[in-house]
Amino acid sequence: MRTKRTLLSAATIAVALTAGMTVGLASTASAGTTLKGSAAEKGRYFGAAVATGKLSDSQYVGILNREFNSVVPENEMKWDATEPQQGRFSYTGGDRLVSHAQANGMSVRGHALLWHAQQPGWAQGLSGTTLRNAAINHVTQVATHFRGQIHSWDVVNEAFADGGSGGRRDSNLQRTGNDWIEAAFRAARAADPGAKLCYNDYNTDGVNAKSTGIYNMVRDFKARGVPIDCVGFQSHLGTSVPGDYQANLQRFADLGVDVQITELDVMTGSNQANIYATVTRACLAVSRCNGITVWGVRDSDSWRGTDDALLFDRSGNKKAAYTSVLNALNVGANPPSTPPPGSPVDTSAWYVLVNRNSGKALDVYNLATNDGARITQWSRNNGNQQQWQFVDSGGGYYRLKSRLSGKVLDVYNFSTSDAAAIVQWSDGNGTNQQFRLAESAGGYVRVINRNSGKAVEVQGASTADGANIVQYADWGGNNQQWQLIRIG
Ligand code: G3I
Repeated sequence: MRTKRTLLSAATIAVALTAGMTVGLASTASAGTTLKGSAAEKGRYFGAAVATGKLSDSQYVGILNREFNSVVPENEMKWDATEPQQGRFSYTGGDRLVSHAQANGMSVRGHALLWHAQQPGWAQGLSGTTLRNAAINHVTQVATHFRGQIHSWDVVNEAFADGGSGGRRDSNLQRTGNDWIEAAFRAARAADPGAKLCYNDYNTDGVNAKSTGIYNMVRDFKARGVPIDCVGFQSHLGTSVPGDYQANLQRFADLGVDVQITELDVMTGSNQANIYATVTRACLAVSRCNGITVWGVRDSDSWRGTDDALLFDRSGNKKAAYTSVLNALNVGANPPSTPPPGSPVDTSAWYVLVNRNSGKALDVYNLATNDGARITQWSRNNGNQQQWQFVDSGGGYYRLKSRLSGKVLDVYNFSTSDAAAIVQWSDGNGTNQQFRLAESAGGYVRVINRNSGKAVEVQGASTADGANIVQYADWGGNNQQWQLIRIG
């Protein structure tokens, strides 16, 4: 039994406006409606990895130019592409992408000067001083060619081992001596003093042995004056994200380097949109997080095949994940809910409840007035079927009464199961009709049933009109978060 009536206490809009990077920001004309516009309003870039061969695909280019203001070549600046024979450099793909970026107001990330993978055959056959000299020459030549055109370079990629060692990955480069990474950073700084120089890796999404190994290297570099400016977190994610994702970014930022999300993609499924939003919010909450790059445009462009890990589907349509990123970027740009965080709800007012994931409103389907009518989400229109009054049940619980029907939200048949339907029913003040509000960040609340303890959510994180409202275990997903907009 809760005894407090504080409903919306102290929700904070975690918006950091002081990112160090200002390159490639879009005009605010598209703010709020595109990834690049909304990110720019927060002082961030929003980028995509590009396969230059797709620059002739009009649908691909249309999305790229509309939504993104930073690009990174997926393969075209790697060692095998840029120096296929020793001392013979080829910049065709990289130059093409730089030209496209410059013609369309985008900035460019460089990826990657040195990496154990995608080395040309000739380099794979070298070792010792010969390899070290060839590697440093490669860094110098490539960084010099692109001097002034790259906002951030992945100087060294994936040099740490997976697992619990926290140490370096074995590779031909590592076997030239432990100082190969700092030698690469020094060569890159000399060749392109204007670019931020990043170390980039994966499986570094929380505080773990691998990320701590990198953390210790960065701390050592800063202490000894090795030129490092940023750390890239690839963020190739499965169906969950570590709870300390943001804290991990912050601990690197606290060392005095910028952080960037460099290759974001997330396994498809009911958690996909929420994970994308979590990562976006983490970047916004860390002032030294410069921006986010997703590793491809459409699901069909992704290296992850059937994982469908990106923001646009195979036909180029925006996915729920897209909406959740955009909404996360826009938090703070729009006025938060009324009543403001810290206030109790006004039991004499009418509210529209807008879902954080879909942007749609809680709605009595088809203007029904009968008991048992289903509750769905629908594009917000502020109709009586979308207006709800909070009727006090005591103990911090309320019924939500429809302005249209006079009936209240009800967990059908007192179910305590996940996915049980939320319907409307005559007001009997049953515990299956009583809900409390639990605060989420950014002025959003979860609506928790007294009988079941479960949260009111949009089933399956759908973004469609008519999607069912159900109860589900309270896990804090965006599809379980609602903004209360007072309209009467
Ligand atoms: O272009 C050739 C094609 O001509 C040939 O027929 C075909 C045969 O397999 O290969 C094609 O090249 C492929 C290339 O992508 C372009 O599609 C390579 O085999 C393939 O290995 C290469 O994969 C890239 C991979 O890095 C290589 O390790 C992916 O596109 C790229 O997305 C991926 O990106 C990496 C980042 O650089 C570092 N972090 C992890 C990330 C995902 O693995």
